[in-house]
Amino acid sequence: MSTKQKHILVTGGAGFIGSHTVVELIEAGYTPVIIDDFRNSERFIPERLEKLTNQKIIAVDAACQDVEVLDSLFSKYNFEGVIHFAADKAVGESVSDPLKYYDNNLSSLISILRMMDKYNTKSLVFSSSCTVYGNPKSTTGKSVVTEDSIHLNPDSPYGNTKLIGEQILQDWIASSSRSNVALLRYFNPIGAHASGEIGELPQGIPNNLLPYITQTAVGIREKLTVFGNDYDTEDGTCIRDYIHVCDLADAHVSAIKWLDLQTNPGIEIFNIGTGKGTSVLEMVQAFEKVIGKPLSWEYGPKRSGDIPEIYANPIKAKEMLQWESKFSIFQAIEDAWRWENNRPKND
Ligand code: UFG
Repeated sequence: MSTKQKHILVTGGAGFIGSHTVVELIEAGYTPVIIDDFRNSERFIPERLEKLTNQKIIAVDAACQDVEVLDSLFSKYNFEGVIHFAADKAVGESVSDPLKYYDNNLSSLISILRMMDKYNTKSLVFSSSCTVYGNPKSTTGKSVVTEDSIHLNPDSPYGNTKLIGEQILQDWIASSSRSNVALLRYFNPIGAHASGEIGELPQGIPNNLLPYITQTAVGIREKLTVFGNDYDTEDGTCIRDYIHVCDLADAHVSAIKWLDLQTNPGIEIFNIGTGKGTSVLEMVQAFEKVIGKPLSWEYGPKRSGDIPEIYANPIKAKEMLQWESKFSIFQAIEDAWRWENNRPKND
Protein backbone atom coordinates (compact mmCIF):
# COMPACT_ATOMS: atom_id res chain seq x y z
CA MET A 1 0.00 0.00 0.00
CA SER A 2 1.26 3.45 -0.89
CA THR A 3 2.24 5.47 2.16
CA LYS A 4 1.19 8.65 0.39
CA GLN A 5 -2.51 7.86 0.70
CA LYS A 6 -4.29 9.77 3.45
CA HIS A 7 -6.90 7.38 4.78
CA ILE A 8 -9.93 8.76 6.60
CA LEU A 9 -12.35 6.44 8.38
CA VAL A 10 -15.92 7.49 7.59
CA THR A 11 -18.42 5.80 9.91
CA GLY A 12 -21.91 5.80 8.42
CA GLY A 13 -20.31 6.64 5.08
CA ALA A 14 -23.20 5.16 3.06
CA GLY A 15 -25.74 7.48 4.68
CA PHE A 16 -27.07 10.80 3.41
CA ILE A 17 -24.39 13.17 4.69
CA GLY A 18 -21.71 10.45 4.82
CA SER A 19 -21.98 9.51 1.14
CA HIS A 20 -21.72 13.13 -0.01
CA THR A 21 -18.72 13.60 2.28
CA VAL A 22 -17.01 10.57 0.73
CA VAL A 23 -17.28 12.25 -2.68
CA GLU A 24 -15.80 15.52 -1.37
CA LEU A 25 -12.98 13.68 0.43
CA ILE A 26 -11.99 11.89 -2.77
CA GLU A 27 -12.08 15.15 -4.72
CA ALA A 28 -9.77 16.65 -2.08
CA GLY A 29 -7.28 13.79 -2.49
CA TYR A 30 -8.13 11.67 0.58
CA THR A 31 -8.89 7.95 0.59
CA PRO A 32 -12.05 7.35 2.58
CA VAL A 33 -12.69 3.98 4.24
CA ILE A 34 -16.39 3.47 4.93
CA ILE A 35 -17.70 1.45 7.84
CA ASP A 36 -21.48 1.11 7.71
CA ASP A 37 -23.89 -1.66 8.71
CA PHE A 38 -26.52 -0.37 6.25
CA ARG A 39 -29.21 -0.23 8.94
CA ASN A 40 -30.42 3.07 7.53
CA SER A 41 -28.69 3.21 4.15
CA GLU A 42 -28.68 1.19 0.94
CA ARG A 43 -26.13 -1.42 -0.10
CA PHE A 44 -25.87 0.00 -3.62
CA ILE A 45 -24.44 3.31 -2.36
CA PRO A 46 -20.74 2.23 -2.49
CA GLU A 47 -21.24 1.21 -6.14
CA ARG A 48 -22.84 4.55 -6.92
CA LEU A 49 -19.90 6.27 -5.25
CA GLU A 50 -17.51 4.29 -7.45
CA LYS A 51 -19.40 5.36 -10.55
CA LEU A 52 -19.46 8.96 -9.41
CA THR A 53 -15.81 9.25 -8.39
CA ASN A 54 -14.30 6.73 -10.78
CA GLN A 55 -12.42 5.29 -7.86
CA LYS A 56 -12.52 2.01 -5.93
CA ILE A 57 -14.46 2.53 -2.72
CA ILE A 58 -13.44 0.63 0.40
CA ALA A 59 -16.67 -0.14 2.28
CA VAL A 60 -16.85 -2.51 5.23
CA ASP A 61 -20.23 -3.88 6.31
CA ALA A 62 -20.02 -3.70 10.09
CA ALA A 63 -21.29 -1.76 13.08
CA CYS A 64 -19.03 0.71 14.86
CA GLN A 65 -19.36 -1.37 18.01
CA ASP A 66 -17.59 -4.25 16.30
CA VAL A 67 -14.25 -3.83 18.03
CA GLU A 68 -12.53 -6.61 16.08
CA VAL A 69 -13.41 -5.04 12.74
CA LEU A 70 -12.43 -1.58 13.98
CA ASP A 71 -9.14 -2.87 15.31
CA SER A 72 -8.25 -4.49 12.00
CA LEU A 73 -9.16 -1.33 10.05
CA PHE A 74 -7.17 0.98 12.34
CA SER A 75 -4.12 -1.28 12.20
CA LYS A 76 -4.34 -1.70 8.42
CA TYR A 77 -4.89 1.91 7.36
CA ASN A 78 -3.20 4.07 10.00
CA PHE A 79 -5.95 6.69 9.68
CA GLU A 80 -5.14 10.39 9.50
CA GLY A 81 -8.57 11.02 10.91
CA VAL A 82 -12.07 9.77 11.59
CA ILE A 83 -15.37 11.34 10.58
CA HIS A 84 -18.02 9.86 12.81
CA PHE A 85 -21.51 10.01 11.29
CA ALA A 86 -22.87 6.61 12.28
CA ALA A 87 -25.91 7.17 14.50
CA ASP A 88 -29.64 6.67 14.60
CA LYS A 89 -31.34 9.99 13.83
CA ALA A 90 -35.14 9.76 13.80
CA VAL A 91 -36.39 12.16 16.46
CA GLY A 92 -39.83 10.50 16.81
CA GLU A 93 -38.44 6.97 17.04
CA SER A 94 -36.00 8.13 19.71
CA VAL A 95 -38.97 9.18 21.87
CA SER A 96 -40.62 5.77 21.56
CA ASP A 97 -37.40 3.74 21.80
CA PRO A 98 -34.90 5.86 23.77
CA LEU A 99 -32.67 2.96 24.80
CA LYS A 100 -31.96 2.12 21.16
CA TYR A 101 -30.66 5.69 20.73
CA TYR A 102 -28.64 5.91 23.92
CA ASP A 103 -27.19 2.47 23.26
CA ASN A 104 -26.26 2.82 19.60
CA ASN A 105 -25.27 6.48 19.42
CA LEU A 106 -23.14 6.51 22.55
CA SER A 107 -21.56 3.06 22.35
CA SER A 108 -20.44 3.64 18.75
CA LEU A 109 -18.77 6.91 19.75
CA ILE A 110 -17.03 5.28 22.71
CA SER A 111 -15.71 2.39 20.55
CA ILE A 112 -14.28 4.88 18.08
CA LEU A 113 -12.59 6.93 20.81
CA ARG A 114 -11.06 3.82 22.42
CA MET A 115 -9.66 2.82 19.05
CA MET A 116 -8.32 6.34 18.39
CA ASP A 117 -6.53 6.21 21.75
CA LYS A 118 -5.07 2.79 20.97
CA TYR A 119 -3.76 3.85 17.56
CA ASN A 120 -2.93 7.49 18.39
CA THR A 121 -5.24 8.78 15.67
CA LYS A 122 -4.88 12.50 15.36
CA SER A 123 -8.18 13.92 14.14
CA LEU A 124 -11.89 13.42 14.74
CA VAL A 125 -14.85 15.19 13.17
CA PHE A 126 -18.06 14.60 15.11
CA SER A 127 -21.61 15.10 13.78
CA SER A 128 -23.61 17.14 16.21
CA SER A 129 -26.78 19.13 15.69
CA CYS A 130 -28.28 22.55 16.28
CA THR A 131 -30.79 20.66 18.40
CA VAL A 132 -28.39 21.22 21.33
CA TYR A 133 -29.43 24.91 21.38
CA GLY A 134 -33.04 24.09 22.20
CA ASN A 135 -35.21 27.18 21.61
CA PRO A 136 -32.70 30.06 21.53
CA LYS A 137 -35.32 32.80 21.62
CA SER A 138 -36.52 31.62 25.01
CA THR A 139 -33.03 31.96 26.50
CA THR A 140 -31.33 34.75 24.56
CA GLY A 141 -34.23 36.58 22.90
CA LYS A 142 -32.56 35.87 19.54
CA SER A 143 -33.04 33.18 16.90
CA VAL A 144 -29.47 33.32 15.62
CA VAL A 145 -27.00 31.17 17.54
CA THR A 146 -23.25 31.27 18.00
CA GLU A 147 -21.29 28.30 19.31
CA ASP A 148 -21.35 29.69 22.85
CA SER A 149 -25.10 30.30 22.92
CA ILE A 150 -26.81 28.78 25.93
CA HIS A 151 -27.63 25.08 25.69
CA LEU A 152 -30.93 23.68 26.72
CA ASN A 153 -31.95 20.11 27.10
CA PRO A 154 -32.83 19.01 23.59
CA ASP A 155 -36.41 17.93 23.09
CA SER A 156 -35.73 14.29 22.29
CA PRO A 157 -33.56 11.36 23.33
CA TYR A 158 -31.92 11.71 19.88
CA GLY A 159 -30.96 15.29 20.73
CA ASN A 160 -29.77 14.18 24.15
CA THR A 161 -27.41 11.65 22.55
CA LYS A 162 -25.82 14.50 20.57
CA LEU A 163 -25.43 16.67 23.68
CA ILE A 164 -24.04 13.76 25.71
CA GLY A 165 -21.75 12.89 22.77
CA GLU A 166 -20.40 16.45 22.92
CA GLN A 167 -19.82 16.12 26.68
CA ILE A 168 -18.06 12.78 26.23
CA LEU A 169 -15.73 14.45 23.72
CA GLN A 170 -15.00 17.38 26.04
CA ASP A 171 -14.11 14.95 28.84
CA TRP A 172 -12.06 12.77 26.52
CA ILE A 173 -10.02 15.73 25.31
CA ALA A 174 -9.55 16.95 28.91
CA SER A 175 -8.05 13.55 29.78
CA SER A 176 -4.78 12.34 28.36
CA SER A 177 -6.07 12.04 24.81
CA ARG A 178 -3.63 13.26 22.17
CA SER A 179 -6.31 13.87 19.59
CA ASN A 180 -8.03 16.89 18.14
CA VAL A 181 -11.77 17.22 17.65
CA ALA A 182 -13.86 19.40 15.36
CA LEU A 183 -17.41 19.23 16.60
CA LEU A 184 -19.78 20.26 13.82
CA ARG A 185 -23.29 21.38 14.70
CA TYR A 186 -25.35 20.88 11.57
CA PHE A 187 -28.39 22.93 10.78
CA ASN A 188 -30.93 21.49 8.27
CA PRO A 189 -29.27 19.51 5.47
CA ILE A 190 -31.22 19.35 2.20
CA GLY A 191 -30.53 18.67 -1.48
CA ALA A 192 -28.57 15.94 -3.22
CA HIS A 193 -25.48 15.53 -5.37
CA ALA A 194 -25.90 17.38 -8.69
CA SER A 195 -25.11 14.15 -10.60
CA GLY A 196 -28.40 12.62 -9.43
CA GLU A 197 -26.48 9.49 -8.31
CA ILE A 198 -26.77 9.94 -4.53
CA GLY A 199 -29.18 11.69 -2.20
CA GLU A 200 -31.42 11.18 0.78
CA LEU A 201 -33.28 7.86 1.06
CA PRO A 202 -35.82 8.23 3.84
CA GLN A 203 -37.27 4.94 5.02
CA GLY A 204 -41.07 5.08 5.03
CA ILE A 205 -42.83 8.40 5.57
CA PRO A 206 -40.26 11.21 5.65
CA ASN A 207 -40.04 13.29 8.82
CA ASN A 208 -38.13 16.11 7.17
CA LEU A 209 -39.66 18.88 5.13
CA LEU A 210 -37.98 18.73 1.70
CA PRO A 211 -38.24 14.94 1.18
CA TYR A 212 -41.91 15.21 2.13
CA ILE A 213 -42.35 18.00 -0.41
CA THR A 214 -40.60 16.12 -3.25
CA GLN A 215 -42.48 12.90 -2.47
CA THR A 216 -45.76 14.83 -2.56
CA ALA A 217 -44.86 16.38 -5.90
CA VAL A 218 -44.22 12.95 -7.48
CA GLY A 219 -47.43 11.55 -6.00
CA ILE A 220 -46.03 9.21 -3.31
CA ARG A 221 -47.70 11.40 -0.64
CA GLU A 222 -51.05 13.02 -1.14
CA LYS A 223 -50.52 16.37 0.49
CA LEU A 224 -47.92 18.21 2.55
CA THR A 225 -49.11 19.38 5.95
CA VAL A 226 -47.43 22.60 7.05
CA PHE A 227 -47.21 22.20 10.80
CA GLY A 228 -48.57 25.41 12.33
CA ASN A 229 -49.26 28.88 10.94
CA ASP A 230 -49.43 31.02 14.06
CA TYR A 231 -45.83 30.98 15.22
CA ASP A 232 -44.30 34.31 16.15
CA THR A 233 -42.57 34.66 12.76
CA GLU A 234 -43.28 36.88 9.76
CA ASP A 235 -45.56 34.42 7.94
CA GLY A 236 -46.48 32.34 10.99
CA THR A 237 -44.50 29.22 9.95
CA CYS A 238 -41.26 27.93 11.47
CA ILE A 239 -37.88 29.19 10.32
CA ARG A 240 -34.81 26.99 9.77
CA ASP A 241 -31.34 27.30 8.27
CA TYR A 242 -31.42 24.91 5.30
CA ILE A 243 -27.98 23.95 4.01
CA HIS A 244 -27.11 22.06 0.81
CA VAL A 245 -25.73 18.64 1.71
CA CYS A 246 -22.71 19.23 -0.58
CA ASP A 247 -21.86 22.40 1.35
CA LEU A 248 -22.16 20.38 4.55
CA ALA A 249 -19.97 17.62 3.09
CA ASP A 250 -17.39 20.21 2.10
CA ALA A 251 -17.32 21.51 5.69
CA HIS A 252 -16.04 18.08 6.78
CA VAL A 253 -13.13 18.27 4.36
CA SER A 254 -12.31 21.78 5.62
CA ALA A 255 -12.46 20.45 9.19
CA ILE A 256 -10.13 17.53 8.38
CA LYS A 257 -7.63 19.91 6.75
CA TRP A 258 -7.82 22.28 9.71
CA LEU A 259 -7.37 19.45 12.22
CA ASP A 260 -4.31 18.29 10.32
CA LEU A 261 -2.65 21.68 11.02
CA GLN A 262 -3.30 21.61 14.77
CA THR A 263 -0.30 20.78 16.91
CA ASN A 264 -1.88 20.47 20.37
CA PRO A 265 -4.81 18.31 21.47
CA GLY A 266 -8.05 20.24 21.69
CA ILE A 267 -11.68 20.56 20.74
CA GLU A 268 -13.46 23.26 18.74
CA ILE A 269 -17.15 23.63 18.02
CA PHE A 270 -18.45 24.99 14.71
CA ASN A 271 -21.91 25.91 13.51
CA ILE A 272 -22.38 24.57 10.00
CA GLY A 273 -25.20 26.55 8.47
CA THR A 274 -25.74 29.28 5.90
CA GLY A 275 -26.64 32.07 8.31
CA LYS A 276 -29.99 32.57 6.57
CA GLY A 277 -33.39 31.63 7.90
CA THR A 278 -36.12 30.35 5.57
CA SER A 279 -39.72 29.72 6.61
CA VAL A 280 -41.68 26.57 5.75
CA LEU A 281 -43.92 28.68 3.54
CA GLU A 282 -40.92 30.16 1.73
CA MET A 283 -39.61 26.63 1.12
CA VAL A 284 -42.94 25.58 -0.38
CA GLN A 285 -43.00 28.67 -2.60
CA ALA A 286 -39.37 28.17 -3.67
CA PHE A 287 -40.16 24.56 -4.55
CA GLU A 288 -43.20 25.56 -6.64
CA LYS A 289 -41.03 28.10 -8.45
CA VAL A 290 -38.30 25.54 -9.21
CA ILE A 291 -40.65 22.86 -10.58
CA GLY A 292 -43.06 25.37 -12.16
CA LYS A 293 -46.15 23.70 -10.68
CA PRO A 294 -48.26 24.19 -7.57
CA LEU A 295 -47.76 21.74 -4.69
CA SER A 296 -50.66 20.14 -2.87
CA TRP A 297 -50.43 21.37 0.71
CA GLU A 298 -52.49 22.57 3.66
CA TYR A 299 -51.97 23.98 7.13
CA GLY A 300 -52.26 21.56 10.02
CA PRO A 301 -51.65 21.61 13.77
CA LYS A 302 -48.22 22.36 15.20
CA ARG A 303 -45.84 19.41 15.55
CA SER A 304 -44.87 18.86 19.15
CA GLY A 305 -41.33 19.92 20.02
CA ASP A 306 -40.81 22.22 17.01
CA ILE A 307 -38.72 25.32 17.69
CA PRO A 308 -40.27 28.44 16.09
CA GLU A 309 -37.06 29.88 14.67
CA ILE A 310 -33.36 29.04 14.65
CA TYR A 311 -30.49 29.79 12.30
CA ALA A 312 -26.72 29.78 12.48
CA ASN A 313 -24.13 32.42 12.89
CA PRO A 314 -21.49 30.57 10.80
CA ILE A 315 -18.69 33.16 11.13
CA LYS A 316 -16.41 30.97 13.25
CA ALA A 317 -16.34 28.26 10.55
CA LYS A 318 -15.56 30.93 7.95
CA GLU A 319 -12.71 32.43 9.96
CA MET A 320 -11.11 29.25 11.29
CA LEU A 321 -11.98 26.58 8.72
CA GLN A 322 -12.09 28.90 5.69
CA TRP A 323 -15.44 27.31 4.91
CA GLU A 324 -18.71 28.91 3.96
CA SER A 325 -21.81 27.68 2.19
CA LYS A 326 -22.02 28.27 -1.57
CA PHE A 327 -25.38 26.90 -2.68
CA SER A 328 -28.77 28.60 -2.46
CA ILE A 329 -31.96 26.83 -1.38
CA PHE A 330 -33.02 27.02 -5.06
CA GLN A 331 -29.99 24.97 -6.11
CA ALA A 332 -30.64 22.54 -3.26
CA ILE A 333 -34.27 22.15 -4.31
CA GLU A 334 -33.28 21.60 -7.96
CA ASP A 335 -30.85 18.87 -6.90
CA ALA A 336 -33.35 17.26 -4.51
CA TRP A 337 -35.96 17.28 -7.28
CA ARG A 338 -33.59 15.63 -9.77
CA TRP A 339 -32.79 13.00 -7.15
CA GLU A 340 -36.46 12.38 -6.34
CA ASN A 341 -37.10 11.67 -10.00
CA ASN A 342 -34.05 9.38 -10.36
CA ARG A 343 -33.78 7.64 -7.06
CA PRO A 344 -34.59 3.96 -6.54
CA LYS A 345 -37.99 3.85 -4.84
CA ASN A 346 -38.02 1.76 -1.70
CA ASP A 347 -41.45 2.81 -0.48
N1 UFG B 1 -42.43 20.51 8.51
C1 UFG B 1 -43.74 20.63 8.04
N2 UFG B 1 -44.29 19.54 7.46
C2 UFG B 1 -43.63 18.35 7.33
C3 UFG B 1 -42.29 18.25 7.79
C4 UFG B 1 -41.74 19.37 8.39
O1 UFG B 1 -44.37 21.68 8.16
O2 UFG B 1 -44.22 17.39 6.81
C5 UFG B 1 -41.82 21.70 9.15
C6 UFG B 1 -41.44 21.45 10.60
O3 UFG B 1 -42.57 21.68 11.43
C7 UFG B 1 -40.31 22.44 10.78
C8 UFG B 1 -39.65 22.50 9.42
O4 UFG B 1 -40.60 21.97 8.49
O5 UFG B 1 -40.84 23.69 11.05
C9 UFG B 1 -38.38 21.66 9.33
O6 UFG B 1 -38.68 20.35 9.80
P1 UFG B 1 -37.67 19.15 9.61
O7 UFG B 1 -38.30 17.94 10.23
O8 UFG B 1 -37.24 19.05 8.19
O9 UFG B 1 -36.39 19.60 10.43
P2 UFG B 1 -36.24 19.92 11.99
O10 UFG B 1 -35.68 21.29 12.05
O11 UFG B 1 -37.44 19.63 12.76
O12 UFG B 1 -35.22 18.77 12.38
C10 UFG B 1 -33.87 18.90 12.09
C11 UFG B 1 -33.22 17.53 11.97
C12 UFG B 1 -33.21 16.80 13.29
C13 UFG B 1 -32.66 17.68 14.37
C14 UFG B 1 -33.38 18.99 14.39
C15 UFG B 1 -32.77 19.93 15.37
O13 UFG B 1 -33.88 16.74 11.01
O14 UFG B 1 -32.39 15.66 13.17
O15 UFG B 1 -33.30 19.61 13.13
O16 UFG B 1 -33.49 21.10 15.47
F1 UFG B 1 -32.79 17.10 15.60
